[in-house]
Amino acid sequence: MDGTSSHFHGTLRWAIAGTGSISRSIVPDLQLIPGNHIEVVFSRDHTKAARFAEEFGLPRSTNDYTSLITDPLVDALYLATPFATHAAMARQALNAGKHVIIEKPMATNTHEVQELFALAEHRGLFLMEAMWMKFNPAFQHLVELLESGIIGTPASLRAGFGFPLIPDGGSRWDVARSGGTLLDQGIYPVTLAHTIFGEPASINARGRLRADGLDFAEHFTLEFEDGRFAQCASSMTEFLDPSAAISGTKGWITLPGMFWTSTTLLVHGGSWATMFAPDPIQHHREGNGYVPMLRAAGEAIRSGATQHPTHPASHTIAVFRTLDTIRHQVEEAAATSESDGHITHA
Ligand SMILES: NC(=O)c1ccc[n+]([C@@H]2O[C@H](COP(=O)([O-])OP(=O)(O)OC[C@H]3O[C@@H](n4cnc5c(N)ncnc54)[C@H](OP(=O)(O)O)[C@@H]3O)[C@@H](O)[C@H]2O)c1
Repeated sequence: MDGTSSHFHGTLRWAIAGTGSISRSIVPDLQLIPGNHIEVVFSRDHTKAARFAEEFGLPRSTNDYTSLITDPLVDALYLATPFATHAAMARQALNAGKHVIIEKPMATNTHEVQELFALAEHRGLFLMEAMWMKFNPAFQHLVELLESGIIGTPASLRAGFGFPLIPDGGSRWDVARSGGTLLDQGIYPVTLAHTIFGEPASINARGRLRADGLDFAEHFTLEFEDGRFAQCASSMTEFLDPSAAISGTKGWITLPGMFWTSTTLLVHGGSWATMFAPDPIQHHREGNGYVPMLRAAGEAIRSGATQHPTHPASHTIAVFRTLDTIRHQVEEAAATSESDGHITHA
């Protein structure tokens, strides 16, 4: 390993790449966790980087990515740029000997994700997709409650992530720069379904594509052994109910509000009296909600681990296999429909 130690007894020193909305949430959350220090921020624009560093009280800024990832005062990189850039930027950082956390989605397809995990393993470095949902206290409580059998055997779930996004010409509307709903939003219901039921045995997906191929709405059913299923959707042109529910033989559990960041659980079970009007179980949100994930990742890096057991390589790769299949089915159906003379895109 180039200049980094796999065990940290002192402060873990971070670099942040990107000065967008997510960096503005991550940086203050990282600053709340003792034992972490943000040394430097990278932007392609020097003035922007300097302004960001000043606003958040960071010692240094740079517009030179190579100098960022070879910085001897940095142990780990938080990559918060659009996802079309993730694979190349993470590869460079791993090759320079830095531990890396990559914003979701970690990359654009299974092949890229596998390659990054193989590289991290080879170099003995920590690598994780920043799937903060799985570290949220309410989400972890949900998993424990399901394991306890409180709703019997879980048999199905439904989850959607959809909001009309303003067509502002930003990266979400640009195919070349991380456009589309599946990787940006659909990854959350897919990850939820994988966490509860594992990898699906079969997938049935349909969606809508813009003329240039940008996917702006999808719905899909994931089927698992024993007839269990997940009905999911994502959209950047319509609202979808943002709650999620997991149902079983003795009741169901709802994550109200936005399921990927919910602090509340509703356990619909027990007697008929409590089934339809349960008392909410309330959890506390730390900072902007990223603190539990950042704390867990920091502890894993300190311990010398190369993956985190809550969201390891095997889980991330399996989710990407599902995302690839959904994308493939949506594109195939759209191509068939178009050749039949039906219009499927906006
Ligand atoms: N976990 C969450 O809750 C959450 C929420 C939103 C987004 N995200 C994820 O976070 C990532 C970034 O999302 P965002 O909304 O912050 O995106 P964004 O605003 O479009 O881009 C983030 C920053 O990346 C830099 N950037 C843009 N294009 C780049 C390029 N070609 N090469 C290098 N840097 C580039 C820009 O910073 P400079 O102009 O300073 O270089 C920009 O401010 C995505 O993967 C997204 O899915 C996660």
